[in-house]
Amino acid sequence: MGTISIKPIRIFGDPVLRTPADPVRDFDAELRRLVKDLTDTMLDAPGVGLAAPQIGVGLRVFTYHVDDVVGHLINPSLDLTGEQETDDEGCLSFPGLAFPTPRSYGVVAKGFTMYGEPVTLEGTGHLARCVQHETDHLDGILFIDRLDQEQRKLAMREIRAAEWWGEPVPELRVSPHPTHGQAL
Ligand code: NI
Repeated sequence: MGTISIKPIRIFGDPVLRTPADPVRDFDAELRRLVKDLTDTMLDAPGVGLAAPQIGVGLRVFTYHVDDVVGHLINPSLDLTGEQETDDEGCLSFPGLAFPTPRSYGVVAKGFTMYGEPVTLEGTGHLARCVQHETDHLDGILFIDRLDQEQRKLAMREIRAAEWWGEPVPELRVSPHPTHGQAL
C-alpha cells in the first residue's frame, strides 16, 4: 500500500471549498493516488467522509467511513429518497462545530470506482447523510448552507468565535492532479 499520506485539510474561508469540482475523466494512477490521500487523511482526522476539494483538489471524488465500511465514489449523481431528517452534522473544514442539519433519509448514489467501474451506493441514515454532505462539497456547497435561518445565524456566530477563523488561507498551489485548465 506504500506510505501513509496525510494532507492538510482546508478550513472554511478557503476559496477552494466554494469552487465546484470538475468531473474525473482519467481513471489513472494519479486518481488512485488521490483516493489513497483522501482515505489516509480521512482516517487520520478521523472523519466519516472527506471530499477532494477539502485537500485542495478540484475533482469530483470523495471517501467515506461509515459503519466500519471504508469506500470512495467518483463522479456521483444522487437520487434522494425518504423524508427529511434533522441530525447534528459537522465537517472537517469546520473544526469542533456541529449543527442540526436537515438531510434526506435515504440516497441512491450512482458513480464510479477508481478503476472506472460503474457502482451504485445505496444507503440510509448516517451513510445517506454522509453521501449528501460529501457530494455537496463537490458542488461548492457547505453544510451551513443547509441550516435553517436560526441555526445558520448561530453557526456564523460560532464560526466567528472559533480559534481557526481568520487564519491566513494556505497559498494556492498547483495541483498534481489534472484540472483541465481550471485553476484551483
Ligand atoms: Ni465536510
